[in-house]
Amino acid sequence: MQISWSNSSIHQLKTSALIVPLLADVAPSRLRGFDPRLAEAITKLNSHHDWRGDKGDVALFYPATVTDRLPHVARIILVGMGHQADWSYESMRQAVGLGIQTAKKHRLSDAAILLPEGTSLATARDLATIVTLAAYDFSYYKTQARAKDHPSLGRVVLCLPGAEVEINYTQAVAAGLAIGQATNFVRDLTNHPANVMTPRHLAQDAKELAGGDVQVQVYGRAELEKIKMGALLAVARGSVEEPQLIVAQYTPKLGKKAPLIALVGKGITFDSGGISIKPSDGMEEMKMDMAGAATALGVLAVARALELPIRLAVVLPVTENLPSGSATKPGDIITAYNSTTIEILNTDAEGRVVLADGLAYAAQEFAPDAIIDLATLTGAAIVALGHEAAPVMGNNAALVTAIKEAAERTGERVWELPLWDEYKEQVKSEIADVKNLGEGRTAGVIAGGAFLSYFVPEDIPWVHIDIAGTSMLDKSRRSYMPKGGSGWGVRLLVDLLENWK
Ligand code: BES
Ligand code: ZN
Ligand code: ZN
Repeated sequence: MQISWSNSSIHQLKTSALIVPLLADVAPSRLRGFDPRLAEAITKLNSHHDWRGDKGDVALFYPATVTDRLPHVARIILVGMGHQADWSYESMRQAVGLGIQTAKKHRLSDAAILLPEGTSLATARDLATIVTLAAYDFSYYKTQARAKDHPSLGRVVLCLPGAEVEINYTQAVAAGLAIGQATNFVRDLTNHPANVMTPRHLAQDAKELAGGDVQVQVYGRAELEKIKMGALLAVARGSVEEPQLIVAQYTPKLGKKAPLIALVGKGITFDSGGISIKPSDGMEEMKMDMAGAATALGVLAVARALELPIRLAVVLPVTENLPSGSATKPGDIITAYNSTTIEILNTDAEGRVVLADGLAYAAQEFAPDAIIDLATLTGAAIVALGHEAAPVMGNNAALVTAIKEAAERTGERVWELPLWDEYKEQVKSEIADVKNLGEGRTAGVIAGGAFLSYFVPEDIPWVHIDIAGTSMLDKSRRSYMPKGGSGWGVRLLVDLLENWK
């Protein structure tokens, strides 16, 4: 995907389709300035109720049928943003996404988007990301040579007629594209089936990110035994695939003294539940159980592309969770990296077990200024918030607040749940230090967070984000988020890191 910007008049524009986001109540007025006949055409569409400018409304027409002043604009795609009174910036994102989807549906290889006058650099950057996200397709496994007959949307121009050349939109657009591409990379990792995306495959993909300011190390079973990562090894016991601990670091050129943030991601490349096996209906979805690890790698890629002035330590415990004669059993007691003993009561609560080692390792090896973990940890997260927001909890109010603010700005919503001491009591075991279940079916999301808290020293600010509901969508819920892996969290965390105080 190529995205550029142009400040020339739309009369000079050469494009297969000009996407025009418009408000319902003031729809044609801006276009009147460009060409009264275009505005008339839209008024006519309006009066025939073909297009009202509501959110989700889309209409495609050929400008040559109404005016001769846009000789090189083959199509116009009108996308509605609803009425001004209910407008929020998210309406703009959705409209741009819908425009891109429509261009894709018509098999166009290029398009342009008419942006509002005075569009800021931040908005241009964000919309470049949205364009990249909306253009995403997962088609590796389609053997028909679709690409040849149907070119994919490869070039998009952001039109800012009259914008001053001095404003550096070029850099903003490149940054937006980089964020979109990293998010699509996360989607790919999440969408690949588990027979392809094995622990070793994920580790290989991580290694390919190495170079420049990024360093990547991978540890296999022998090293994990040596350093006593008993929890990760316990989950891996049922599988013939070797578990991997991926450790990646980003250090900006300037500022070795920059704050160090650890990202810990759950990397279960397939979660069958293990001996506490899951029902077979829907089990195929569990190829996505490494979305936390994938998201952390996506953020790492953006940190390098944007040269963010923070340091990152990414720690990813990666394994399959399968049943076999050698698998960990309910009732087993294991010892984690920080010497805490864990009674395994349900082998399907494996995410918190591998994260126990990941969190303890991140804390001990890096002594970071903060730890953020990302995990598709509980079905209860979906029960609580559906697919619209991710539960967050942690030990530091300032860090939780910063994440809430980033969520507000990016539209990747979070909702805080409490981590009171009473909940931490609920995961204490009668015969070991902790157990990997809370009290029955109650407070399932919090039980996960409460368990994790035993593996993070209290003096390190830490937040746990449960992305079970947001990282894989059962259907498209936003025009720039298709069904399947969403890459949710990349924009959220990049915004957080950019505004790090
Ligand atoms: N990977 C699942 C959680 C999950 C469920 C993610 C649905 C995405 C969609 C996790 O390992 C799991 O199985 N959790 C159990 C925990 C329970 C046994 C305490 C769950 O949520 O049922
Ligand atoms: Zn599980
Ligand atoms: Zn899982």
